[in-house]
Amino acid sequence: MNCMIKTESEIKKMRKSGKLTAEVLEMIGKYLQPDINTEEINQICHDYIIYEKKATSACLGYHGFPKSICVSINDVVCHGIPNKKQILKEGDIVNIDISIVKNNYYTDASKMFFIGNTSILSKRLCKVARESLYKSLQFIKPGIKLYKIGEIIQNYVESNHFSVVKEYCGHGIGRTFHEKPHVLHYKNKENDIILKKGMIFTIEPMINAGKPEVKCMEDGWTIKTKDGSLSAQYEHTILVTDNGCDVLTWQKDEEIKEKIVNIN
Ligand code: MF3
Ligand code: CO
Repeated sequence: MNCMIKTESEIKKMRKSGKLTAEVLEMIGKYLQPDINTEEINQICHDYIIYEKKATSACLGYHGFPKSICVSINDVVCHGIPNKKQILKEGDIVNIDISIVKNNYYTDASKMFFIGNTSILSKRLCKVARESLYKSLQFIKPGIKLYKIGEIIQNYVESNHFSVVKEYCGHGIGRTFHEKPHVLHYKNKENDIILKKGMIFTIEPMINAGKPEVKCMEDGWTIKTKDGSLSAQYEHTILVTDNGCDVLTWQKDEEIKEKIVNIN
């Protein structure tokens, strides 16, 4: 029995969990305006997850993480901790990362939001990050090797003169938050697992406008670009199907389909 393959009944629960994660991201957009602080954003998501969706946050208490979501602004690459002193302002780009547990099954997704008018560079960086994820989704089907995902993302990002963060990767997900396999966002031929129907994992490229190196702040969580350049990330939880993949955390405003067919 391959531990990375989910059963039909597990897949059903993952679909449900994924839909809830997507709904949090759909819900929060309208609140992301200049002057809101990131603790307020955390509280709105927390209440929605608990009281409306009867689910729990996978982040709260995870290795001591103190809040229910991650909010990562501008040069913050990932794992930004919500804080009432941190206030959104016009021109910011913000990643909201939502990880929930519903009926014991985890799903994980994130996307970028623009606060008012943002620079051309910001918009381009976010577009390239999103497209890199979408391009990898258009390749997924049973029989391909895992490193192909990283190869597609890296080639696309670097051909657009941005860089891929190497320290963090996507991951299998299911009854636990982080499972096998590691899903790298750059090419590494040792990553030669063959994709099979029923695998569920995240793809979550972090893309920097400048150099790929990152640094960890004193809070032990917040990761920033070393050179101070902007960073963007999009993340989905996906299921490998017979003929492609299903985006379990698909949201209404996506420019890809929920069910992606890659074999005709
Ligand atoms: N959502 C992140 C991931 O993709 C994990 C965040 S863990 C936290 O794996 F503790 F920082 F929330
Ligand atoms: Co993840």
